[in-house]
Amino acid sequence: MGETLLIDLRSDTVTKPSPDMRKAMAEAEVGDDVYGDDPTVNALEEKAAELFGKESALFVTSGTQGNLVSVLSQTGRGDEIILGNQSHIYSSEAGGVSVLGGVVMYPLETNQNGTIDIQKIKDAVKGDDYHKPRTKLFSFENSHNWSSGRPINKLDSDKMAKAAKEVGLRVHVDGARIFNSAVSLGIPVKELTENVDSVTFCLSKGLGCPIGSVIVGEKDQIIEARRVRKILGSAMRQVGVIASCGIVALDTMIERLEDDHENAKKLAIGLSEMDIIEIDADNIYTNLVRFKITNQKGFEFAEKLKEYGVHINGGESDLRMVTHYGIESSDIDKTIEAVSKAVNVI
Ligand SMILES: Cc1ncc(COP(=O)(O)O)c(C=O)c1O
Repeated sequence: MGETLLIDLRSDTVTKPSPDMRKAMAEAEVGDDVYGDDPTVNALEEKAAELFGKESALFVTSGTQGNLVSVLSQTGRGDEIILGNQSHIYSSEAGGVSVLGGVVMYPLETNQNGTIDIQKIKDAVKGDDYHKPRTKLFSFENSHNWSSGRPINKLDSDKMAKAAKEVGLRVHVDGARIFNSAVSLGIPVKELTENVDSVTFCLSKGLGCPIGSVIVGEKDQIIEARRVRKILGSAMRQVGVIASCGIVALDTMIERLEDDHENAKKLAIGLSEMDIIEIDADNIYTNLVRFKITNQKGFEFAEKLKEYGVHINGGESDLRMVTHYGIESSDIDKTIEAVSKAVNVI
């Protein structure tokens, strides 16, 4: 009790910029990005497009905005997006695509590993019937947050994308943590996403940036996305100051995600050794560790654990710990010890 050190495992969004990022911010060459004059933003967008093998890219403020802009640039009012019922777009973005774009969301049952059955995708498409919304877009998440960060492998990703395309849909990937998937699967992101139309990825999660996400896709879609971003009031000016961190992240922060995955696995195994905890430690492949505690409410336990120096997120029954830049293997040892003490305090 009474520990002063706080190990913050609430999310990988809590990271602070690396010294290289601080330096890059201070030295960034900037210009007015609304005029396309910011060389640092341009360099980041070119780098991202190249990394994903797509024609073009757009820097946006957040993952939520990346998804919103991606959806609105590929649909119109009254169109429909089909997506997982446990997807972030459906469950955790305040219904933005419907609120701001008049787009109908049609949620599909999600498998435990974060995939969606091909037949379900095909069956969800509405025929040419003026009573129905027009189904235009299919979206899935990689890695899948609710499935404890399960990476969707290339085979499953391609299968879903091809099935959606066969029935005339475009395909968007919410790749908030796509680099975690790519590193865990040992495959370049370019290959993992070659059969989808657009991807949003976050700079401000595992890659450690303070702000920002990027959308990659084909040229015409990104031109439209730039327009939607303007509508949303998020065309920014000398934004190279923050885009500079994105360049550092893409150069230096991808491979180290492996450390986060190792830490997450170690954490999951440690938790699985406690009787009172339910966790599928075999299926932890990236940096999200979800578990349940059988003798108390999740949020009550999270509150208690804070007294032992560890800060995590807890809902009614689910709890989540996320490893990230700044969390060392020794922090995992301390966390396991803190949990083992806190579980016994009712
Ligand atoms: C899968 C997924 N998509 C999108 C987002 C949204 O990102 P942001 O918090 O930058 O809006 C998150 C955030 O946690 C996420 O987990």
